[in-house]
Amino acid sequence: MAAAAAKKLGILVALLALLVGPSAGLLGIGISIGSGTDCTVFVGWPLPVILRSLICGLLGQPYTPPIWRDEPTGAGLSVGYYNNPRNTDAYCPGAETAVRNAVEKAIYQQGRGIGAGLIRLFFHDAFVRGCDASVLLRTTALAGTNTEMEGPPNKDSLRGFDVIDAAKEATKAACGNRVSCADILAFAARDASDILSGGNIRYPVPAGRYDGRESFAKETGQLPGPDSSLQELQMMFAAQGLSTADMVTLSGAHSIGQARCLFFTGRLAAMDSDYARRLNTACNGTGSPNNRVDQDPVSATVLDNQYYKNIDKFVLFGSDAVLVSSPETKQQVDVNKANLTSRWESDFAAAMVKMGNIGVKTALVPSETEIREVCWRVNA
Ligand code: HEM
Ligand SMILES: *[C@@H]1O[C@H](CO)[C@@H](O)[C@H](O)[C@H]1NC(C)=O
Ligand SMILES: *[C@@H]1O[C@H](CO)[C@@H](O)[C@H](O)[C@H]1NC(C)=O
Repeated sequence: MAAAAAKKLGILVALLALLVGPSAGLLGIGISIGSGTDCTVFVGWPLPVILRSLICGLLGQPYTPPIWRDEPTGAGLSVGYYNNPRNTDAYCPGAETAVRNAVEKAIYQQGRGIGAGLIRLFFHDAFVRGCDASVLLRTTALAGTNTEMEGPPNKDSLRGFDVIDAAKEATKAACGNRVSCADILAFAARDASDILSGGNIRYPVPAGRYDGRESFAKETGQLPGPDSSLQELQMMFAAQGLSTADMVTLSGAHSIGQARCLFFTGRLAAMDSDYARRLNTACNGTGSPNNRVDQDPVSATVLDNQYYKNIDKFVLFGSDAVLVSSPETKQQVDVNKANLTSRWESDFAAAMVKMGNIGVKTALVPSETEIREVCWRVNA
């Protein structure tokens, strides 16, 4: 057993060396893989992104979620948290407006894609250590710089960090260091949903999260990948206390934003042939894996139910297409794509709130939680 695993690792390390060349820093990580303690299995993510991030992947091992959570209740959070004078240390009536203004400004200056980035950032924060802004950290005591943003699902992919930093500064200008980065992220994802949906998705966000102080790249293995099977998607959402219905609802976020070619060029044959031809051109065959295309070919910048109409011939990922592979999920897709858009839009709002309840830290615990002064690093 151990010998076989070691051999597998050896092959992987050799492969890494081959692909990345003799760079001392990279090989250093390759060697540390040999210790066997730091290995993570990335399910549903193509090999090139895994290798690029240099996280050990023991290929072929079954996925075992590190944590299994109960359905998130959000106990300890409250709507209007910063507007409530009884929350003495957190009282900051300008907080939500400050975040909203920062998101509006970013969308105005950078385009609607940045709103998509914020919604995804919130999802990737929620699924790893809960909504504690761990995804924003560039360096921590235990991880060094090998934080979540270096993990395969995140590296060279997430965007919107600058918007969160600007929103943080704006809340500090309004009332000092009272608003957590985790709450700012939840507010920003809400505001982006509102703006990108043209006001059709609008919901109050319970707040009162504290920021965490750790973040590890290897823990991003809890995020599903574009090649994940339906069963893997269900399991990874269930591990966070989210239902299959939540998973189908939240996947509708793929009606906005962009994706890199490497995630879908392998399945062009399964798509509508004209669409596949266009994608093939945009991706230069498989020659430009890092080119980006819109996820929704019909209404690329509008957060709407078009995603469900696109399944399964006009969606990019296998993980999108599989939503019609079981009767249960297909039925939900069919309901969502019917012209009555209000159903999906209210479901989405509720599911975003539920996702925002995952693993929240609602108490100030020295050396574990804090209100970060700067969102990309822990307090000194
Ligand atoms: C169901 C499992 C999911 C999988 C396998 C998945 C996978 C992906 C992948 C591979 C990309 C492209 C990244 C890149 O090319 O660099 C992407 C983009 C995106 N995803 Fe997901 N995702 C899932 C669920 C979600 C959820 C729950 C949300 C939010 C509620 C979300 C929001 C987005 C957005 C907005 C983008 C575009 C980001 C941008 O343009 O910057 N996804 N997703
Ligand atoms: C297209 O892909 C080929 C490799 O297949 C590559 O040599 C070429 O540079 C690519 N073209 C562009 C415009 O990126
Ligand atoms: C369905 O949506 C299309 C496109 O938005 C619209 O033209 C049509 O009138 C709608 N049909 C119904 C029955 O609402």
